Amino acid sequence: MDKLVIEGGIPLKGVIPVSGSKNAALPILFASILLDGKTTFTNVPDLRDIHTTLKLLNMLGCSCQFEDGTVTMQPTQLNPEASYDLVRTMRASILCLGPLLARLGEAKVALPGGCAIGSRPVDQHLKGLEKMGAVFDLNEGYIIGRCTKLTGAHITLDMPTVGGTENLLMAAALAEGETQLENVAREPEIVDLANFLIACGAKITGHGTSTIRITGVSSLSGTTYAIMPDRIEAGTFLVAAGITGGELLVQNCPWKELDAVIIKLREMGMDIQQTSEGALAKAGEPLRGVDIKTRPFPGFPTDMQAQLMSLACLAQGPSIFEESIFENRFMHALELIRMGANIRLSGRTAHIQGVKSLIGAPVMASDLRASASLVLAGLAARGTTHVLRIYHLDRGYEYIEKKLGLVGARIRREKE
Ligand code: EPZ
Repeated sequence: MDKLVIEGGIPLKGVIPVSGSKNAALPILFASILLDGKTTFTNVPDLRDIHTTLKLLNMLGCSCQFEDGTVTMQPTQLNPEASYDLVRTMRASILCLGPLLARLGEAKVALPGGCAIGSRPVDQHLKGLEKMGAVFDLNEGYIIGRCTKLTGAHITLDMPTVGGTENLLMAAALAEGETQLENVAREPEIVDLANFLIACGAKITGHGTSTIRITGVSSLSGTTYAIMPDRIEAGTFLVAAGITGGELLVQNCPWKELDAVIIKLREMGMDIQQTSEGALAKAGEPLRGVDIKTRPFPGFPTDMQAQLMSLACLAQGPSIFEESIFENRFMHALELIRMGANIRLSGRTAHIQGVKSLIGAPVMASDLRASASLVLAGLAARGTTHVLRIYHLDRGYEYIEKKLGLVGARIRREKE
């Protein structure tokens, strides 16, 4: 296993590029199962989760190649089984369920386990697909689904689940008749998925709002499509500028998609300006504490909670963070405390009291965004930080030590 070794205390300065969005690319790649023709994707990030997805798609009969950020995909003889050994490494594999049912009328997908941050149930995915005519059995850890033909339905989700919205949107694109999805997620990655499906001939309106309407079509063609920039990677780099007291031009930084994050960073005292190339972020005045409650989009994104906690550890004064989306998404706090942070956890609330500095230490990554928060803390800490188990980080950040090194960070990858 690899680790990152970081010498902290260096203000980062320069231009740092944002890669394509992991959380847009994953559903869009799975949506290729729906298509009749060849498709080309550009701006695809070179990440572990992307390669896991491509491996699974190849197993399902969509032959695909990844070459320097471009993926070409050609559905051939589809088969309905997504095996456990792949699904257990990436929960998002559940996103093949809707497309397989829509295309083949059958699917056998390993039930994704939970993960470090929570139990991650998929009940909303299954309930919605059942309303569209699918029948499910659970056997030996596999979800086995069948349907003659998916039919349009009026479905109201119990909560705005991102993956649930994506699975149902993809299934409805080829279902017979009209589907109305209520109380759906509004994340920008869902808008990107809908825009991709529309480019392939799907009839979708309302994406980005709480109600999406889909008129099923009989087939979808291939296309060429560029994946949107990754707003969470971009937000992580904005924090890197603030936590190191530097100045970064975050190239291709999404702006309106990061509104809730930029508002909070400005509230903490950061100076963030939109430019023609992206966003210019500076530490500005001494950082102040801030209160955050994670919410579905357009609220403050749970995927930025860990990164802002690292920043809050060095702010003047108290901060209160409430994690309302996942039941166990404070594991980075325990590692930050080992670096000298002053954090008290109480259920889904973290009370942070800023300290003068953090001290480098060996710390353990537990999940993707927790590992990002530990890298950020290491960049600011006095001394050397070893971030272990960075396979978590490699799931969602493309060449992060190269990108940070190019703006002055002293960071290197080593074998643990
Ligand atoms: C997506 O996960 C993202 N992953 C997550 O990003 C992100 O944190 C999450 O949305 C919330 O924004 C991808 O897009 C690949 P959910 P997803 O279904 O779809 C409950 C990262 O760091 N729920 O919106 O799995 C669930 O327990 C990752 O990039 C049900 O109860 O998230 C959770 O509490 C981490 N039943 C809440 O909804 C269901 O059927 C939100 O989950 C589905 C979800």
